[in-house]
Amino acid sequence: MLEISNLTTHYFQGGQVATAVRGASLTLKKGLATAIVGESGSGKSTVAMSVMRMIRPPIGDIAEGTIRVNGTDVTAASPKQMREILRTSIGFVPQDPTTALDPLYTIRSQIVEAMPHVERNKRTETIVELLTSLGIADARDRLREHPHQFSGGMRQRVAIAIALAKEPDLLIADEPTTALDVTTQIGILRLLDRLRRERHLTTMFITHDIRVARLVCQDVAVMYGGVVVESGPLSAVVDAPSHPYTRALLDASSLDVGPRQRLRAISGSPPTLLAMPPGCPFAPRCPNATAICHREMPATTGKADGSSFACWNPVAS
Ligand SMILES: Nc1ncnc2c1ncn2[C@@H]1O[C@H](COP(=O)(O)OP(=O)(O)OP(=O)(O)O)[C@@H](O)[C@H]1O
Ligand SMILES: [Mg+2]
Repeated sequence: MLEISNLTTHYFQGGQVATAVRGASLTLKKGLATAIVGESGSGKSTVAMSVMRMIRPPIGDIAEGTIRVNGTDVTAASPKQMREILRTSIGFVPQDPTTALDPLYTIRSQIVEAMPHVERNKRTETIVELLTSLGIADARDRLREHPHQFSGGMRQRVAIAIALAKEPDLLIADEPTTALDVTTQIGILRLLDRLRRERHLTTMFITHDIRVARLVCQDVAVMYGGVVVESGPLSAVVDAPSHPYTRALLDASSLDVGPRQRLRAISGSPPTLLAMPPGCPFAPRCPNATAICHREMPATTGKADGSSFACWNPVAS
């Protein structure tokens, strides 16, 4: 469904080139949810924005690699082709629903814009059905309301409705619940999981929290410093992580930790993109690092459980 191969994406920062994603390869299987996890700045959103071709000069550029959406390489798509792919195949749910909604327009008019394929006289009915299925009560009465009349959780449901109105094959959700309180968060996560199952939606779910990923995703890609360090079936990666960064991420987000207890932080800080070490980006913080880790990027090794990792000195299991 979505096949990212050897993707490298740059940002142009004041005359300098910052490599935000480096040689990332990743396959999203049809009808499954794949989590992209990693701490802030690891390149998660950059992968998503590369898929949607939202990174173009002068902001940045895709320097290398291919991204196939249903077989079409979007890195080679013309602006016209790309608009068509975005209009019909990819739904996007942003972190902050207010960015997806225009305060000046009614809820109805914003959803209608995303469903040109639905006949005019069926649109209201289709929207009411969609909003109701997304857990918005009295949807028919609320169509004429504006975004500010909706709570944060309801606004995010409307943003999901806009993303789904085009009946996309691929749903990209970038930290879709981070701005919400915990109860609302769980409601939205359950909703996304149900939609995936009912609509066979291929989902890219971006989160910095591997615990959230475990609730809704079947596959995972762990990113650090712009590199996919480990990926595969989520259960395999969680049960037997090979990359020391994955191990550290799991330790830091222990499921046993209560809300008031402090999580064990990973020591050190992420690399800056302009001074990227030539080898593994995690090497400066890695307990297993040896000389070669600082010098050379490791190749990717596949495992019997279907996962793979890029590390010279993997965690002993
Ligand atoms: N428009 C931009 N111009 C220059 N650098 C950028 C731009 N957007 C992102 N970056 C840099 O690219 C790197 C990757 O950013 P990205 O937003 O992809 O990370 P992320 O994993 O999504 O982080 P977060 O969890 O904070 O959302 C960061 O170092 C960031 O500072
Ligand atoms: Mg991000």
